[in-house]
Amino acid sequence: MDEQIQEIKQWLVEAGDRIKKHLNEELTVDEKSGRTDLVTNMDRETQKFLIEKIQQTYPDVQILAEESGYNHIETMQGTVFIIDPIDGTLNFVLEKENFCIMLGIYEDGLSKLGFIYDVMQGELYWGGRKLGVYCNDKKLTKPEDKALGEGLVGMNAYMYLHNQYRAQEIGRLSMGIRMSGCAGVELIAILKGAHVGYITNLSPWDYAAGCALLEAFGFCYSRLDGQALTFSGREHFIAGTPKAYKQISELLHFG
Ligand code: IPD
Ligand code: CA
Ligand code: CA
Repeated sequence: MDEQIQEIKQWLVEAGDRIKKHLNEELTVDEKSGRTDLVTNMDRETQKFLIEKIQQTYPDVQILAEESGYNHIETMQGTVFIIDPIDGTLNFVLEKENFCIMLGIYEDGLSKLGFIYDVMQGELYWGGRKLGVYCNDKKLTKPEDKALGEGLVGMNAYMYLHNQYRAQEIGRLSMGIRMSGCAGVELIAILKGAHVGYITNLSPWDYAAGCALLEAFGFCYSRLDGQALTFSGREHFIAGTPKAYKQISELLHFG
């Protein structure tokens, strides 16, 4: 596993270097489902780069990835590499920061490894159930199990505005809400102990890496109805410290 981890870390750093190198060049930006759902040449190139590396090294694995041609698999059986080449594409285009490259590895539906690379911060979070969580070479201490009222909650803007899943009440019960526009950044915030929860609407490539890391700390995640994530299509998503997750699950009547 050590060799695999070093290899993947190298791929991600190289992919991040390519993005940084082209950061101030003009991007090709296309709309997907609408004007706020974008894909750039760098999303496509990063995905292609990572898929080529995976296929050369692990020809037998399945790949699930956000862009062009790889965004559906029939089953999570066997080994599955799940990629978000740029998570937070709007941030990438408009802020040139607060975006991540993410890769999760699952075996028969169980998480094995997760990697979230905050490219502009130069912080690569990685680990898994059997390893704990590291930032670059430093092992993270498991954050305190804080309750909802003791911390900040990452929140999806649309869900908060429309008060879906009592989002506004959850916000009021917390110390405050934050909206970064990048699932990777939000999940890192929980892993660092900066936030106690995250409520949003995500696709498998948005949550795969992060969930593998949350598991290393025994933190909780699920769909917002309490059911297990399905790794197909978008799902309302909750993650948090055990205490915050329990409080929110009781509020939403699935705890
Ligand atoms: C998006 C970001 C955002 C989340 C969206 C995702 P993308 O990913 O993670 O925070 O709210 O649901 O689609 O499209 O920039 O990779
Ligand atoms: Ca994403
Ligand atoms: Ca993406």
